[in-house]
Amino acid sequence: MAPFLFARVVSVRTVRALRFSTKASRRFEFDSFDICGQRYKTDLHTNITQFIVALTDRKLYKAASNPIRLISDSIRHYFKQFDLFEYPSPVVSLDANFDSLLIGKDHVARKPSDTYYVNEQFVLRTHTSAHQSDCLQQGSQAFICIADVYRRDAIKRTHFPCFHQCEVFKLFSSEELNIKSILAYQENVRSDQCQESYTIEASKSVENDLKYTIEQYIKELLGKQTQTRWVSAYFPFTHPSWELEIMHNGEWLEILGCGIVENRILTNNRINDKIGWAAGFGLERLAMLKYSIPDIRLFWSKDTGFLSQFKNLTHADNMKYTPISKYPQCIKDISFWIPDEDTFCEQDFLEIIHSQGRGLIEQVDLIDKYTNKKGRTSLCYRIIYRSHERNLTNAEVNEIHCNIGIQTELLLNVEVRE
Ligand code: DAH
Repeated sequence: MAPFLFARVVSVRTVRALRFSTKASRRFEFDSFDICGQRYKTDLHTNITQFIVALTDRKLYKAASNPIRLISDSIRHYFKQFDLFEYPSPVVSLDANFDSLLIGKDHVARKPSDTYYVNEQFVLRTHTSAHQSDCLQQGSQAFICIADVYRRDAIKRTHFPCFHQCEVFKLFSSEELNIKSILAYQENVRSDQCQESYTIEASKSVENDLKYTIEQYIKELLGKQTQTRWVSAYFPFTHPSWELEIMHNGEWLEILGCGIVENRILTNNRINDKIGWAAGFGLERLAMLKYSIPDIRLFWSKDTGFLSQFKNLTHADNMKYTPISKYPQCIKDISFWIPDEDTFCEQDFLEIIHSQGRGLIEQVDLIDKYTNKKGRTSLCYRIIYRSHERNLTNAEVNEIHCNIGIQTELLLNVEVRE
């Protein structure tokens, strides 16, 4: 695998080259790299880093003793009548991730600040819905697909750039629904309750199946007493659409999105006489709820103190995670002058922190912003370091913090303030 710039300390020669190169090409020293055994060329659109590429090999949904694997097992067990599709590589075309799902050309999800571009043609899937069309083209009438998905995001206890989703999809014919016609005789007008192409009867019947199926699964996983509620939502690929929320510690938490599949997605895949529902849920959230895991980064831990707690469990067992011990946080601030507001990209800065942070970054917050009389702007970020495995030494954190400063100066053209 070709090393990326962020992965290591840069050489003086590289530094010189960098200083004079353009913003986009600054990122990579090499013109191609491997993901899951496939080689990809970089170009001006490339915004993934070595840190992210390394995550693509972890496959937590298959890893022994990982709670993500247990949730994955529970889904596979509950949906055992459904076909199981696996796509080990997270690299998908823009068409699969967006166009095939009717996601518009100017939708925010396409922005490089939100999505990891491998190059102009490919992204790391941002959701498992990216595989819907492929599964349909293979003739499946009901399927699940569990996989790792990637989004550029802030670093905190509840967010990590890679997480896991399961897509569930089911088609129905009029015979299966026992309804004379699922297609409206003449195109109706779209209402809040139903697409123009379907009869209300068919749409309602599929909605009932969807809600029943999903609620049963959640109650099987989290317990019969789990309180749930359906909230109307919007997705470009379903109508009507809902989110399922569950009550946890006095708060409603969203755990999945779903809806009646847009008929156009079916007809684009040469399915002209069916109606279907689709749902996509996040495995981390379910695992955090089921096992009381407080921090999303723990799933990535190789620490035996964490993994051993899940070792001999099956998906049907209940347990509550006991924090091994609480190690203290180490808080450090960094301030720097930025070249100007338009060229400074916070995501790039967060990426540097990720790449240098050795998995020890708990949180990053902008705590101060100041513009002097000459119009120069200075930003101050607070970086919170914490390990779940041991006490951090001041020297070790200082070294990382210092490297973050050096890399930020080099790559983002800022001037760190002492
Ligand atoms: N893909 C959506 C997301 O990642 C989740 C989702 C919503 C999946 C509705 C679906 C669906 O299949 O029907 O936010």
